[in-house]
Amino acid sequence: MTTQQAFPAVQPQTELPEPVQTALQAVEDLMLEVVDSTVTVLRDASRHIIGAGGKRVRPRLALLSYAAVGGRDPLEAAPVAAAVELVHTASVVHDDINDHGVVRRGRPSVNAVWGRTFALLTGDYLFTKVYELMAPFRDLNILLSEATVALVEGETLQAAAVKENNFSREVYYRVIALKTAALFKSAGAIGASLGGGTPEQIAALADYGYNVGLAFQIIDDILDLTADEKQLGKTAGIDVEQGRGFATAYTGSDEPTLDEKVNSIKAKALEGDALQKAHDQAEMLVQMAVNQLKVLPPSPAKDALVDLAHMIVDRTY
Ligand code: IPE
Ligand code: IPE
Ligand code: MG
Ligand code: MG
Repeated sequence: MTTQQAFPAVQPQTELPEPVQTALQAVEDLMLEVVDSTVTVLRDASRHIIGAGGKRVRPRLALLSYAAVGGRDPLEAAPVAAAVELVHTASVVHDDINDHGVVRRGRPSVNAVWGRTFALLTGDYLFTKVYELMAPFRDLNILLSEATVALVEGETLQAAAVKENNFSREVYYRVIALKTAALFKSAGAIGASLGGGTPEQIAALADYGYNVGLAFQIIDDILDLTADEKQLGKTAGIDVEQGRGFATAYTGSDEPTLDEKVNSIKAKALEGDALQKAHDQAEMLVQMAVNQLKVLPPSPAKDALVDLAHMIVDRTY
């Protein structure tokens, strides 16, 4: 499994500051090291999903936030950045069970290789390893636990809205704020707190993360409709099929998104200006995120945060 190619990481327009690049490599090593269970399924499945790579947007955000407030050595923030990425990794392992995703990060998903039971347990294992990484970081634990609670609430709210067929634009925003933006927000806040940022800087990086996170999920939902599995490295087109809200929220369709209605909702989203509207919204959110950064002094890390925000709307995978 480990001989497979890792899914390509995002190529930022500007190089990351060298100490941040070093810390990002430390994050990779730490994540692989910490999943050292003697129970081979847990170890192999964890290494399969971690070793597949991914964009690593959340740890990048945490490390850059640390550096942007003048943190001494980004390596200090590697364990918290790894913890944030493990919360995300656990969530996609569980997400693929719920969404019947069979490809993730360019590889067969954990559930596709090991089945639902072991995928569920691998996700549990990864969530639990977060405690270990976060143990030395006292007050920062509350920030990550709040974000993890929000993630679970968002996924649950989404599943409930699908079941009750009441996906409005408002519900959609509530869902993405909880399931995605909260973790991005915590990455910014945790990095900035550990780096010794002022309360104003910490709040700014938390807001930056939150807005970037909303934009990230909107773009993800657009790509789910417009891109394919090869491009994304994950199963595409399943959100609309399972009535997961985005297309309905943006087309204003009140049709149930099941069976033969799927194609009509998908067509409506692709033909009208719904996707353009969603894209505009994402751009506006990224602009707001970049504006938050004005409280930070000039630095290569700040420049890289501006880049990261733009990359999120410009990305094609
Ligand atoms: C996928 O996140 C789940 C969403 C919140 C959209 P990413 O697109 O960051 O996944 P990886 O880590 O790059 O695989
Ligand atoms: C993922 O949402 C959000 C999580 C918090 C797991 P999606 O179901 O839209 O993500 P992908 O498209 O499968 O990555
Ligand atoms: Mg999902
Ligand atoms: Mg999914």
